[in-house]
Amino acid sequence: MTQYLTDASRPVAPAADTAPGAAAASAAEPRGWWRDAVIYQVYPRSFADSDGDGMGDLPGIRSRLPYLRALGVDAVWLSPFYASPQADAGYDVADYRAIDPMFGDLHDADALIRDAHGLGLRVIVDLVPNHSSDQHEWFKRALREGPGSPLRERYHFRPGKGEDGELPPNDWESIFGGPAWTRTNNPDGTPGEWYLHLFAPQQPDFNWENRAVADEFRSILRFWLDMGVDGFRIDVAHGMVKAAGLPDIGGHDQLKLLGNDVMPFFDQDGVHAIYREWRKILDEYPGERIGVAEAWTPTVARTANYVRPDELHQAFNFQYLGTDWDAAALREVIDVSLDAMRPVGAPATWVLSNHDVTRHATRFANEPGLGTQLRTPGDRALGLRRARAASLLMLALPGSAYVYQGEELGLPDVTDLPDEARQDPAFFRGAGQDGFRDGCRVPIPWSGTEAPYGFGPEGGASWLPQPAEWAELSVEAQTGDPNSTLEMYRSALAVRREHPALGAGTAVTWVDGLPEGVLAFRRDTAEGSFACTVNLTAEAVRIPAPGRVLLSSAQAEVVDGAVELPSDCTVWWAV
Ligand code: NOJ
Repeated sequence: MTQYLTDASRPVAPAADTAPGAAAASAAEPRGWWRDAVIYQVYPRSFADSDGDGMGDLPGIRSRLPYLRALGVDAVWLSPFYASPQADAGYDVADYRAIDPMFGDLHDADALIRDAHGLGLRVIVDLVPNHSSDQHEWFKRALREGPGSPLRERYHFRPGKGEDGELPPNDWESIFGGPAWTRTNNPDGTPGEWYLHLFAPQQPDFNWENRAVADEFRSILRFWLDMGVDGFRIDVAHGMVKAAGLPDIGGHDQLKLLGNDVMPFFDQDGVHAIYREWRKILDEYPGERIGVAEAWTPTVARTANYVRPDELHQAFNFQYLGTDWDAAALREVIDVSLDAMRPVGAPATWVLSNHDVTRHATRFANEPGLGTQLRTPGDRALGLRRARAASLLMLALPGSAYVYQGEELGLPDVTDLPDEARQDPAFFRGAGQDGFRDGCRVPIPWSGTEAPYGFGPEGGASWLPQPAEWAELSVEAQTGDPNSTLEMYRSALAVRREHPALGAGTAVTWVDGLPEGVLAFRRDTAEGSFACTVNLTAEAVRIPAPGRVLLSSAQAEVVDGAVELPSDCTVWWAV
């Protein structure tokens, strides 16, 4: 596969006034860095391991920051690194102000934030306010002190139904499968109350009606803002408020309803009051600190509620992530997303992969319509071709984009992990929807011909096994190869930074009259115009060339004013 890069220069160091420190100095002049930011998700367990224990860590991430700077991203979002028993890979937090020793300590976090800022990279940390770990001090005390303890008010403890309280208080199901309630034992060993956990039993849900919970999270926000972070990705941002009385849903298979209906535990209007409070705190700090909602809502219109001017800054666009490689469906979700964000003045965001879904190189290698939890590799070459095309399409859209570590290498999911290697708690709870997430969490190949491929020191381990064929996908193997996916991303991010019509924006102009399965749009500004053409069909198509090729995901020949777009290919044009 070939990519063309005609006139874009490499990413340049940010101008002094765009570095985070400088932004802090002139907070009165909001520039909205997040309106067009490319934000790179680092999954700390799997990015870089400095000490050879097989688990990534903060010093490892720190050592790779120059790579991210050179890649051309604007910010790094770190999945949780807090003290945690790791029942859900760190999304079960025991202490929100401490780093888990497996990742380092607060000095490492401080050094990481400082180094990132020195390189002009912003840092967003994950905040997990819907639930804590069952090893959080509050929950441990709540159990120890028994029914009636004020600590129990900070979670959802309830007596069970049935003659002896042997049935759960309501019919809610856990996102990871099974009931969303677990029964406790009283301090004297007799069966006691139940507690609510929308995810694993080791992740009890906080009761956000309780003032101590809200106060604690305001304080946690300030702790990390004082540490210098540029924002928060808010886990389960749609889950903190539950419908009054915790009403039954009625019926099973509730997971199928997620994303279609407003559930009594998700997307309740009450959550917005929390974000209005948090926005005030974010705004007290200089440098445009941001909040990003991980909110799974039934429609993009409801997602827009989270990014009203006095709430958060961005919300993930999971409708986009869930869209198949299909021209009509993509055009529609792009339009719907831009239309939904315009009235609230928030940027649209675009994302193809993260640590919870099968990587897009593998999703697009399989039949459409299978969702985001796959265990089949599909047609790898097809998947990679489409993934490259999909990435260029995403990076051409107006707004901000998220890149999940390793997608710039074109990594596929590891679909054949042995069951005994798996750690995703959903895998072990059977009916869950997220049981195959380990496949996208396999540590990154950096260099060399043998595992751990530079993820850790030679001879070191990796907490999930890396496939043998990953040697040829390593950063080292792809660097300097103009046909590699890594060089395509580097070029794309450089062009995106340079071209006046790329990045922030609120609309695209579709070009109609093209063959079915071909998408084309323009973005016009006074400083220059840009066009993007995508062939999503299985055949090459010939269309008028809209300008001069800037970059393409596969070789596209321009002859006599027409371009032959190969199957599954995106081309960027200067118009
Ligand atoms: C969403 C996170 O992305 C996922 O990894 C986690 O399991 C759940 N929230 C629960 O915290």
